[in-house]
Amino acid sequence: MKTGIIIVAAGSGERLGYGIPKAEVPLAGEPILAYALRGVIASGVADKICVAVPRSDKLLRELCQDSSITRPIDADVECPPIVAVDGGSTRSDSVRQGLSALGDDIDVVLVHDAARALAPPEVFQRVAHALAEGAQAVIPVRTMVDTVKVVEHAPADQVSIAQEVVTQTPDRTRLRIVQTPQGFTVEALARAHALAELFDDEQSAAVTDDAMLIEALGIPVYAVPGSDLSLKITTPTDLVLAEALLNAYGS
Ligand code: C5P
Repeated sequence: MKTGIIIVAAGSGERLGYGIPKAEVPLAGEPILAYALRGVIASGVADKICVAVPRSDKLLRELCQDSSITRPIDADVECPPIVAVDGGSTRSDSVRQGLSALGDDIDVVLVHDAARALAPPEVFQRVAHALAEGAQAVIPVRTMVDTVKVVEHAPADQVSIAQEVVTQTPDRTRLRIVQTPQGFTVEALARAHALAELFDDEQSAAVTDDAMLIEALGIPVYAVPGSDLSLKITTPTDLVLAEALLNAYGS
């Protein structure tokens, strides 16, 4: 079974406030994408890696071919071919760009956010293992430590109290926080994205992960343990946390 990994790294990173694409933002002196690439390569599960980068971005394209980053730390692991492609205007577009560049000989694909730069190799291996065992779709998850509420806008005559009012408290024991890499058979992911490609802007904006597209097709999505290290670097606070994790646990 041949495995492709798509790293989506074409986001603007507006919420980080650096004025450069998120995957270029330095984390302990190196671009975020460098860490994501190292984790993917160290997992040893990829036969081919495809990285979706912002259109006309040079730095990230060069990084994908930089042997000081792509050389595996473990001598037993080989670095698979890495191709960089132009990402799209939404995350889904970037996934589709990656999918079409992976080639015909790939059976299963793991889609990974560059922003989850510290995702440990073991998580890639767990996802790949579930696919090898027959899953068509698999996601890494964490349990919830916080209680979660559903809210709606407060009625007009109550907004002086607060903007929102709680309507529901879901059972926390059944909720999971979803991470990447998410793994799929190429067939399932291609089917899901063929439908998503037809979405209007509002529908596209609501697609926050690939698994939800698979669920809509009625295909079971299996959940395996993720990792606290797989935090998604989105805000300046996340960057501080990621640096602290690197200091504590290494890359
Ligand atoms: O924007 P968000 O933080 O949800 O992005 C998650 C991942 O998707 C990031 O790694 C980002 O680089 C990627 N992305 C992309 N193309 C876009 C938007 C986001 O590759 N147009």
